[in-house]
Amino acid sequence: MKEIGRRFRLRFNRKDRPLSKEEILRGVREADGMISMLSDTIDREIIDAAPHLRIIANYAVGYNNIDLNAARERGIFVTNTPGVLTETTADLTWALMLTVARRITEAEQFARSGKWTGWAPTQLLGSDLFGKTLGLIGMGRIGQAVARRAAGFDMRVIYTCRHRLPIKEEKRLRSSFLPLPELLKQSDFVSLHLPLTEESRHLIDRNALRLMKPTAFLINTARGPIVDEKALIEALRRKKIAGAGLDVFENEPSIPPELRDRKEVVLLPHIGSASLETRIRMGRIVLENITAVFAGKRPPNAVDRALTSRLK
Ligand code: DGY
Repeated sequence: MKEIGRRFRLRFNRKDRPLSKEEILRGVREADGMISMLSDTIDREIIDAAPHLRIIANYAVGYNNIDLNAARERGIFVTNTPGVLTETTADLTWALMLTVARRITEAEQFARSGKWTGWAPTQLLGSDLFGKTLGLIGMGRIGQAVARRAAGFDMRVIYTCRHRLPIKEEKRLRSSFLPLPELLKQSDFVSLHLPLTEESRHLIDRNALRLMKPTAFLINTARGPIVDEKALIEALRRKKIAGAGLDVFENEPSIPPELRDRKEVVLLPHIGSASLETRIRMGRIVLENITAVFAGKRPPNAVDRALTSRLK
C-alpha cells in the first residue's frame, strides 16, 4: 500500500471489510484506476459512474465480480492476480480434504471439550486419502498444483476440463482425462478448480451429486455458485455423499444454517489465498498492472485478451 501511495494519489478503504455499493460509487467518480476485491461487485452502474477510469485491477485471480462487457465497451483494462496464489490455494484444498475426511474439526473440538475419556477403537473414525481417487474439475494452474500434491498420497488423479492437457502433461501430473459424469462416478474426492462463468454456474447440481459415490466428498475452493447449494444440502441430508469441504459459498458472506449445522461439512470463510506471503505477492501484481497502464503500456495481467490486443 505504501508503494502504491508513493506512485499514485490514493483513496482507499481503511477498514478490513467490503465497501457498500454507495461507498464504491462515491469513491470512483474521480478515479483513474480502481483496485477491487472479489467481494466488490463492479457492475455497469459503477463503471458508468467513473468517467476517467482506465483500469480495474482485481485483487484476486477470479474476476467474475466485474462486468467485463461494460469495461470492454469503455476500453477499461481489467486485470487479475494469476500464478501467485496457486500453491497457497492448492494447500488449502488439501487442508479441506484432510479435515473433512479425517473429521479434524470434530476431533479437535472433542479434545478441547474436556469430554475425552480415553482412546477407543471406533472413536471418530474417518476415511483415508491415500490410495483413493481424486477427481479434479478444472485443470488450470490450481488444479495442477493440487494434482502434483496427490502423488505424495499415492492417489489416482482423474480430471476433466474444457481443453484436455497434452499427453506429456497428463503423464507429468500422473493424471488421466475423463468426461464429467464418469469422473463424478469414480472419484472419492471431487475438487473444483474452474472459474465461475455462465457455463459453470450450478455445474454441480442435483444430477451431478446423484452420480457421486455415497462415500465421496465434495471440495470447493473455487467459487460458491458453481455448486447448487440447495442441491448440496439435500444430498448431504439424504446421505447421497459423505461430506463437503467448502471455502466458498453461493451468497457470501451468508452461509445457510443447513450447512452450518452439519458436522460432515467443513466450512471456511473464503481463505484460499490467505497467507501473508501470497497476499503481499498479489498486491505487487496489482501495482505492476496499474503502473503499466499509467505508463501507457499493456498491463501484464489483462484478462480480456481481445481488448488488450486492440489497444496495444
Ligand atoms: C481468488 O483470488 O480468486 C481467490 O478466490 C482468493 O481467495
